[in-house]
Amino acid sequence: MTQKKIAVFVGSLRKESFNRKMARALMALAPESLKLEIVEIGGLPLYDQDLDDERRPPSAWTVFREQVKSFDGFLFVTPEYNRSVPGVLKNAIDVGSRPYGQSVWGGKPGAVMSVSPGAIGGFGANHHLRQSLVFLDVPAMQQPEAYIGGAANLFDESGNLANDSIKEFVSKYIHAFAVWVETNTSNRR
Ligand SMILES: Cc1cc2nc3c(=O)[nH]c(=O)nc-3n(C[C@H](O)[C@H](O)[C@H](O)COP(=O)(O)O)c2cc1C
Repeated sequence: MTQKKIAVFVGSLRKESFNRKMARALMALAPESLKLEIVEIGGLPLYDQDLDDERRPPSAWTVFREQVKSFDGFLFVTPEYNRSVPGVLKNAIDVGSRPYGQSVWGGKPGAVMSVSPGAIGGFGANHHLRQSLVFLDVPAMQQPEAYIGGAANLFDESGNLANDSIKEFVSKYIHAFAVWVETNTSNRR
């Protein structure tokens, strides 16, 4: 089994982001078959189709598109903003999806985890994001679903997962994702 490179996108730019801490926990618990790497999205200029149409895309878009192409799959770890996907993450998805016909997303497996201090664990963001992934032809892992609530109590002072039950779930999730990646990669290429 060859190791698969997975791009991790965090939908928050906050220094103490629970989602970034969760992304790091996923990286730490990932099996050998996956190599997870966070791809930064905070520096991407807002998508403007004119810049693509006039063939003068910002270099940050071009670098991002090339970088994303080099991965075998995608993991989205995101908060919910106003019951939907934070703008910074939606912008990154939009930038990667264009110019028309040159999307960097299609055909590679993905998964979505939402993390929130609130009780419903970012369910709205999680499913709005899945809606885009359907259109972008990114098969998103169905089970286990991951709507992680109560995030303020999940991490210790060093940013590590604070209890065994969440550690166990996150480990189960990333191992299931490894199987999802393997299955969907071999079936689709
Ligand atoms: C603009 C904005 C909108 C938010 N809307 C929601 C929401 O709809 N649902 C929710 O559970 N939390 C909401 N929150 C609270 C976030 O879940 C909380 O700030 C969380 O810590 C953000 O994730 P992070 O820790 O990774 O930065 C909102 C926060 C902001 C800044």
